Parts: sequence; C-alpha cells; structure tokens
Amino acid sequence: MSKNDTRMWGGRFNQPTDEFVQAFTASVGFDRRLAHADIEGSRAHAMMLKHIGVLSSDELTAIKYGLQQIREEIEAGKFAWSVALEDVHMNIEARLTELVGDAGKKLHTGRSRNDQVATDIRLYLREQIGACMQAIRSFQNGLLDLAERETQTIMPGFTHLQVAQPVSFGHHMLAWFEMLDRDHGRLTDCAARMNQMPLGSAALAGTSFDLDREYTAELLGFDIPTRNSIDAVSDRDFAIEFCAAASICMMHLSRMAEELVLWSSAQFNFIQLPDRYCTGSSIMPQKKNPDVPELVRGKAGRVSGHLVSLLMLMKAQPLAYNKDNQEDKEPLFDTLDTLIGSLRAFADMVPALSVNRDITYQAAQQGYATATDLADYLARKNVAFRDAHEVVGKAVAFAIEQGKDLSACTLRELQKFDSRIEQDVFEVLTLEGSLNARNITGGTAPEQVMFEVNAGRERIKE
Ligand code: ARG
Repeated sequence: MSKNDTRMWGGRFNQPTDEFVQAFTASVGFDRRLAHADIEGSRAHAMMLKHIGVLSSDELTAIKYGLQQIREEIEAGKFAWSVALEDVHMNIEARLTELVGDAGKKLHTGRSRNDQVATDIRLYLREQIGACMQAIRSFQNGLLDLAERETQTIMPGFTHLQVAQPVSFGHHMLAWFEMLDRDHGRLTDCAARMNQMPLGSAALAGTSFDLDREYTAELLGFDIPTRNSIDAVSDRDFAIEFCAAASICMMHLSRMAEELVLWSSAQFNFIQLPDRYCTGSSIMPQKKNPDVPELVRGKAGRVSGHLVSLLMLMKAQPLAYNKDNQEDKEPLFDTLDTLIGSLRAFADMVPALSVNRDITYQAAQQGYATATDLADYLARKNVAFRDAHEVVGKAVAFAIEQGKDLSACTLRELQKFDSRIEQDVFEVLTLEGSLNARNITGGTAPEQVMFEVNAGRERIKE
C-alpha cells in the first residue's frame, strides 16, 4: 500500500477501497455526534492503561493534552473530519497521533472499535436520557400548575368522544401527568439497565492485556463492566429499549396533541393555545392553526418507525458485532431529537393555554352528563343499580323528548319514573354536585384534584 494510505487497517490490502464504497460505508457524517463520548472513553481508557503500566506518565499526559486539543477543535468547528477515515473513532485517533505522535498510536491497546462504539453509544445515550427525563419533569411541573389553576373548572369527560360525566379540567391534566410519570419511570429503568461498560471486550473475545476494567468503569460512571464480551459488543437492546420507551412517550404526547387540536377548534372552543405556538394561513386570514400539536402528533409515527427500524436491524444478526450495527445511530439520534423537542414544546405551550371556562361548563351541561349521578342516587335509596340504570334511561329519553336537561325537569316529572325521588335530587343533578360526589382517591372532586396536585409536586421532587 502507498504510504499515504489513511486506512488504519490497510496492512493486508493491495488495492485501495473503491471511492464509492468508502463513502457508502463511512459513518462519520452522523456518528461525529459521539465525539464527546468518544473522547471521554478514550481518556478513561488511557488513564487505565497508565494505571496498569502500559502507558508511561508522559504518554498519558500527551494523550490527555491531545484529546483536549481535539475537543476544542471540534467545539470551535475547526476539526477536519475526513470520510476517508470512516468514522468518528478513527478520525479522532488519527488526529491524536498527528498531534502527539507515538503515544497516540498506543491508545488502541487492548481495545477495538467494537467495544469502543458500544461504550460511546451508552455514554451518549445515558446523558441524553437525562435530558429527556428533565424535559418530562418540566412538562409535569407545568401540568401541575395548570391543574391547580383549573381545579374548579368543569368540563365534560368523554368516552367514545361522547359526553360521559363532568370532570374537573385539572383532573384531566393530571391524567396527562400520570402518563408522563410512567414514561419517566421507563427511562429510569432503561438508563439503569444499560449502565454497564463494554470496554475490555475488545473485538469480541476480551483482550490478552490485563486491563483493570473496574477502574475504567468507575472513571466513566458505569456501575460495572459488562460480563460477557460477545454480548457487550453486539447487542443494541439498550437502544431498542430506549426507542420503545420514547415511542410510548410520543404516543402519549400524540394523544394530548389530538385533544389540544380538537379543543382549540371552533366546534369545541374549550381552549386557546398561545399565539406564539400557532401559525396562520397564507390564504385564509381568519385561521389560527395548532401546528405544534399537529406536528407532535405526526412525529409520534416517526419515532415508532425508528423503534421498528432498530428491531429489524437487530433481528437475526448472528453474534457478535456486524457492520449492520452502524445503522443504529441515525434512528437513535433522531428519536432523541424528536422526543426532547416535542417535550420541550409541550412543556412551554400547554401550561400557557387558556381555558374558556364558560364554554367547557356549558358543554358539560349538554349530553346528560349527570345521568349516572341520578342512578347512583337511586341506588343509595336501595334501588338495585341495574334497575336504577333502567329508570334513569327512561328519564333521559323523556328529557331528550322535552329538549331539556335532567336538572330542568320538575320533581313531579322525575317522580313519574321512580317515586323514591325527592327534592334533594337536584343537588345531585348539578355539575358541581356530580364532581364533589366523586371524592375518592383518584376521583375528580376538586378536593381530590388539589390533593393530587400537592402529592404530584412531592413525587417529582428529586
Ligand atoms: N462505525 C462503526 C459502527 O458504528 C464502528 C465499529 C466498527 N467496527 C468494525 N469492526 N468495523 O458500528
């Protein structure tokens, strides 16, 4: 091979790589995102090599200096990334050797790009999961504020998108809070499971150097070194697990998005989204479109797609490392960007929405939302619930015919359906009465909602 062959594995080849193949196989266009993690990993690996006597103090000093230099070059946008050097790992290593000479060439002792990349992704993902979790917490905080503000606000609760029973708007916001809390929990679990260090697995079988893997693991904040070298370099289940958790979270956001879109329509008119989160139409001057929720709803599909990509990528791969795995990065990175962006948008937008309280109240008055309360009332008077259900069904049919609400019927009219109905029924038929009656753990009574707002604040305190 010619002397200016930049390939680090060029030794056995007597033909240069086809130019197209070089570009086709290169990952530096996207894996440079791992640069910071790669430098961290290399720094710790070098410190460990010095610790076990493979590197001298001077060599370690040179490597640390070189890596720091590279970090600064990258941050300043001055680093000369080269496709010929294939990926982030070889770009950094080549530059290191350029900067510090022979010490740089020793850095790869007892290491392979296979355990290197497996470590880098874990380091990077661990940090990014932290950012996702923070974004979830900040959104949850905003939801608690909104729930507190709207504890007494009455809106119709729906099943089948038909008016079902009146609920507190705050209670509805706390439903979103709970979804997010489980999302946060899934990310916590995923981050804990992946926090093991592959370095020392080398290409797949471990290394003949007596590396102190515990030492490196500690330097990098991993709980333990991985226990099987073949598994450590080959599996990407941790990335799949993250994308699964992200897909579920995006699915939740898309449900919220759907409600925001519906509620801000002229037909519902329950809420107004802040102007700064909406856009207009180039032709229809009256329009205020809920673009951000719509986009988030759309992006949920894209993240689920990434999950499926990674599952298909991993499926049927024989052990250990295969180049297929280079394809793990783009779906993973895009999932992170999409999830963090969507969470941040919602964390800012949702708490700033304003509720048209009169309208949600009026909407709850339609659709016989307190019919269940009348049935419960009869059941408390010793009517079997199934019979009560039947009686109220008939009363509702009558009210519909008369074009009025149950609460607008006279006592005499109601008594035609069951003589046990008395004057006190009218308290039960009001929306406020209906809400207050559901004063049970997890129920929609304003008192419960306030209790859960405060409990929620405690729960998300770290
Ligand atoms: N760029 C590669 C990847 O992302 C790094 C590992 C390459 N290892 C190898 N044996 N070719 O997976």
